[in-house]
Amino acid sequence: MSKRRVLTGIKPTGSPHLGNYVGAIKPPIAASRDANADSYFFLADYHALISCQDPIRVQRSTLEIAATWLALGLDPERVMFYRQSDIPEIPELTWLLTCITSKGQLNRAHAYKAAVDANTAEGVDIDAGISAGLYMYPVLMAADILMFNAHAVPVGRDQVQHIEIARDLGQRFNHVYGSDFFTLPEAQVDETTATLAGLDGRKMSKSYDNTIPLWDEPVTMRRLVMSIVTNSQAPGDAKNPDESHLFSIYQAFATAAETAAMRNAYQDGISWGEVKLALFERIDRELAPARERYRHFMTNPQQVETLLLRGAERARAQSRPLIVRLREAVGLRSVAATAVVATESTRTSDVLQPELKQYRERDGRYYFKLTEKSVGVLAQSIGFANGQDAGATIARIKLGEAAIANDELFLDEVMIARAPAGIASADVSAGLAALVAQEAEARAKKSAQA
Ligand code: TRP
Repeated sequence: MSKRRVLTGIKPTGSPHLGNYVGAIKPPIAASRDANADSYFFLADYHALISCQDPIRVQRSTLEIAATWLALGLDPERVMFYRQSDIPEIPELTWLLTCITSKGQLNRAHAYKAAVDANTAEGVDIDAGISAGLYMYPVLMAADILMFNAHAVPVGRDQVQHIEIARDLGQRFNHVYGSDFFTLPEAQVDETTATLAGLDGRKMSKSYDNTIPLWDEPVTMRRLVMSIVTNSQAPGDAKNPDESHLFSIYQAFATAAETAAMRNAYQDGISWGEVKLALFERIDRELAPARERYRHFMTNPQQVETLLLRGAERARAQSRPLIVRLREAVGLRSVAATAVVATESTRTSDVLQPELKQYRERDGRYYFKLTEKSVGVLAQSIGFANGQDAGATIARIKLGEAAIANDELFLDEVMIARAPAGIASADVSAGLAALVAQEAEARAKKSAQA
């Protein structure tokens, strides 16, 4: 039962090229055949809306990308294969997570920051042209991941921060609502996967306009391969495979034996034209059967739709029960049982005996902790550079500026930085509330005496 869950999100934008195939499609499909893993693959079409507002293109890309993965061997019987927008629990979870996300953390997310930096460089308003969708991108992505309790998320370097945010939000939610609702995911960055060179020798990428589209007709692909840049060494000259883009591309498709044979051919002075022809033939041999399946899916889109809907049904068998638990946890509940709960919590807070204690640790910094007589440590503060700052914060808390004591983000940043396991934020809030009440009572007594 407890297999490792590996989740891959695919944004349906544009048409895939050979670089995508080698770096981002082939490895996860191979990994999905591992019997010890449960794989989740989904089309992140809600994410696509952030950068594309052309409905025809969104629809077309979704079909193309689904057909691509199916044609290349993704087995929808074996893995979970679904479309994000078929799972209404994902946007619902996005909102629950949004409400515990600190805005500052989103300000620091790379994609948003890069857009802000670009605006700053141009001297326009920092948020000019930036949609709230781009800003919320990491939260939606966290919902994708946490919804299915993924252990591992294979991603490129540029996505690692997103996985860290997902981890953070999962941890915070678990903490605030006091249970292990979510598995904390880890980014899985494969340093060994090849980045493929493009037509001009730079990394193959749409932004360099140097790609070879994956599903072009063989004649077109052949023409493109023949146009890959080389140096001017003549036929018959011994050539260095380790300085040749053609060779590195060949290697990404060939077996070890084929690669070794090509290495020898370089030594023996094979001409660039012959290398290109061999490369084209090698790529074509690998892609020809898949190309046929791709064409089949593109001309029979209803088959793809049926597979996606079936996948969504299987995925929702997992997301539905989880969202029920989450709604219950956050208080989106039937109101019928309210009265009982209220009496109980009043009674609990009556008997709490909280205390705030300041102390200094070996690192020279000043800390304080909130303790409760029968529970023990409820929360621990972050370290303060000097005693005055720690003292001032304690005073503010004791004064019961309710806005502060009840502010979850304040709690996260100051109080529960190193909270003990098993203590929920609700316990901390209750402890703080009791502390404030106790202090107010003491002050009232004092002023009555004066
Ligand atoms: N952000 C990813 C990308 O641009 C796509 C994505 C959306 C994703 N949700 C995800 C990836 C969840 C992994 C897990 O490539």
